[in-house]
Amino acid sequence: MRLDFYLSHVTELARKAAKIAAAKGRVTVNGEVVKKANHRVLETDHICLDGEPLAWPTEGYYLLHKPAGYVCANEDPEHPIVLDLLPNHLGQKLNIVGRLDKDTTGLLLLTTDGQWLHRITSPRHVCPKRYYVKLKDVISQQSIEQLEAGVLLRGESQLTKPAEVEWLSEKEIYLTIQEGKYHQVKRMLASVGNKVEQLHRDRIGPLQLDKNLPLGEYRALTAQEIAFF
Ligand code: URA
Repeated sequence: MRLDFYLSHVTELARKAAKIAAAKGRVTVNGEVVKKANHRVLETDHICLDGEPLAWPTEGYYLLHKPAGYVCANEDPEHPIVLDLLPNHLGQKLNIVGRLDKDTTGLLLLTTDGQWLHRITSPRHVCPKRYYVKLKDVISQQSIEQLEAGVLLRGESQLTKPAEVEWLSEKEIYLTIQEGKYHQVKRMLASVGNKVEQLHRDRIGPLQLDKNLPLGEYRALTAQEIAFF
């Protein structure tokens, strides 16, 4: 991997700062000063910054309790982005696993591991996601059955995959879906003539959002949780 990319992974330096650090002669590879940011480093190299040895990067896996008002994007001219909720050196390296709408709250995963991300988001892998849905109108038994069997979303030619509905009250359900189409939950409820007033994701596969993790806070996943996917 390139030296600047490596440095930005294992230190708090962003990519540009890493290039500058190397150009200033602060980096050695196997005892030799290396100034070129595009120098290729290997896991077997002994790399130091300011004389301090650095480790080979490990992948990062995090869970965030997304608050409303933040967008799932790497940049946005108008709104705060979820990556703003992490320290700079972490946010710059992480990819967002799937998307939640700006007004949706709940469980959001972030990782540096592309294959892991793919296993959660790819339509080829079944990974159920559970949403708490607060509705504008009372939900009927017929609507529940339609949602469970599959509904035709506006602009789509195929029914949604079978979903699971857990009735909580007249205007509240848990909806577990296996896909991640654009605005899927809102569009599913619209297709049965209802409207989502509040949406919160609390589960992805077997991984549940911590009950005591405050809105806007994040934590690293455990090795066991990483292995879920
Ligand atoms: N479905 C939606 O409509 N919105 C989300 O944020 C997630 C799923």
